[in-house]
Amino acid sequence: MDLDEILAKYSFTKDDIVHLLSCGKDDAKKIYKKAEEIKLAYIGPKVYYRGLIEFSNICRKDCYYCGIRASNTATNRFELSNDQILDAVMFAYKHNYASVVFQAGERTDEAFINKVDQLIRKTKEISEGKIGITLSIGEQTEATYQKWFESGAHRYLLRIETSNKELYYKLHPENERHSFENRINSLHLLKKIGYQVGTGVMIGLPFQSYEHLAEDLLFFKEFDIDMNGMGPYIEHHETPLFEHKETLRPKKERFELALRMIAILRLMMKDINIAAATSLQAIDKVGREKAIKIGANVIMPNITPTIVRANYQLYEGKPCIDEAADDCSSCLEARIGMAGGIVGYGEWGDSEHYRKREKD
Ligand code: 5AD
Ligand code: FES
Repeated sequence: MDLDEILAKYSFTKDDIVHLLSCGKDDAKKIYKKAEEIKLAYIGPKVYYRGLIEFSNICRKDCYYCGIRASNTATNRFELSNDQILDAVMFAYKHNYASVVFQAGERTDEAFINKVDQLIRKTKEISEGKIGITLSIGEQTEATYQKWFESGAHRYLLRIETSNKELYYKLHPENERHSFENRINSLHLLKKIGYQVGTGVMIGLPFQSYEHLAEDLLFFKEFDIDMNGMGPYIEHHETPLFEHKETLRPKKERFELALRMIAILRLMMKDINIAAATSLQAIDKVGREKAIKIGANVIMPNITPTIVRANYQLYEGKPCIDEAADDCSSCLEARIGMAGGIVGYGEWGDSEHYRKREKD
């Protein structure tokens, strides 16, 4: 089928998406241009900051791709104190970031649940309710999600990693702690409770086909997500998936494919928030800005205290691990400007999609 014909459609089939993902570079330019137009028409040029605080790398899970998996004994484990975390929150507040993301390895013990709860409450207190809170701490019980929501968290990121069950179990051990069904169920719980729900996948994984990626995009649409974050998979030598290194596409291709996924998603879901993932920057220095240009509207500057940053290595070559938060943010605004974006300082920048969904 002809590219223009597909781009003119109201909704895409799986075959359409496979075509969009696999067509040549000149055609890709058309996709990017259309995605840029749609973004500007529906949500405008604003780019919202979420100060990312990676507060602990202690994790009870064993995902085959992740550098902080429980079985990786080569990682120095850390957990920041709430005072350290709140210092980072204050940094975000003072620099008008308006929102923070609390991210950590997955834990479900009482001490952890209470620590996060305290953190949410304190963040609200010291910012007089002004800082928006996004959580990214994995699968929890309904009661825990509810508790954190009531304490003031209002967005939650939980990547599905892949929407294909078979592929999921090539990336995770098949056991109770890594259940595909529970992952999906967690996303439903978050939605039911009232969070703005974000999910996403890794792109360029071993065993992953264009068909898988097309199914992922259709899954996002079907689930009616509010936010999305997805980026290229980057191999880590201390993980089991590293043994499939030889089968991977070159990093540059994984990067291009990730950009393509973002642009197509913007065409399919015009008013959701799409984050320009950090792993884009690990492959291309201005990777996140390229994503902003063709459809993304959220960026998550890393404001984790520098002393522990190097220990939060989900993948190798993670950018900015030795820079102070100040250094990162000073040039970011200019780079976003070059990508046609305007930083939405002091604004929560909630997903328009969520707002409409709540009204209906
Ligand atoms: N490459 C790219 N992204 C990764 N993540 C974890 N490990 C890797 C990797 N090796 C992503 C997962 C997870 C998010 C926090 O980081 O998608 O959900
Ligand atoms: Fe920690 Fe996957 S290894 S959640």
